[in-house]
Amino acid sequence: MKLACGLFALVMVPLLAFQTAGASCSASDRKVRYLETEGNRPVRMVLDTSTRYELNTTVGAEEWAHLMPSGGHLIHLQDGDTTQTYTSALFHQLRCLDILREDYVSRRESPLRKHCLNYIRQSVLCIADNHLEYSKAGLAVTHYIETVCNDWTTVYAAAEKNYAEWQARNNM
Ligand SMILES: *[C@@H]1O[C@H](CO)[C@@H](O)[C@H](O)[C@H]1NC(C)=O
Repeated sequence: MKLACGLFALVMVPLLAFQTAGASCSASDRKVRYLETEGNRPVRMVLDTSTRYELNTTVGAEEWAHLMPSGGHLIHLQDGDTTQTYTSALFHQLRCLDILREDYVSRRESPLRKHCLNYIRQSVLCIADNHLEYSKAGLAVTHYIETVCNDWTTVYAAAEKNYAEWQARNNM
């Protein structure tokens, strides 16, 4: 199966500029790496219709922005003497949602619109969550659905730790 290299080789210049490498290559060209997290116990989440994360308010925009860890979305891993920069899929997915939100409310077409929509589509397929949600009149009833999740706080903790270590290495 051919996968765009960009999926693995995200060139992340500041937060606003998510760009993928243009070239395509086979998935085997790069190994899949994971951000090491501490503990992976499942956690409960109640999916509800949040009053937060408004589409088009200043507070809403801040809440979306605060989904990024304090050092932003980048993860820096040492490979011997060189630092390889990554993002974590979690932050890439969340950032993409915010890019789509900004794109919608500003009515300005972001060059990342198509990338983000497809990236979220593939991410959702990849998770392939098979838990059942109640349905009424042919619609999914999304109020107060309980589900079990990976503990996303461990990914945030690992990102904060990684950022602190990267700052220390760079005397920042
Ligand atoms: C978001 O708010 C701005 C400023 O009030 C407005 O110009 C824009 O049309 C709004 N976007 C949507 C999708 O409502």
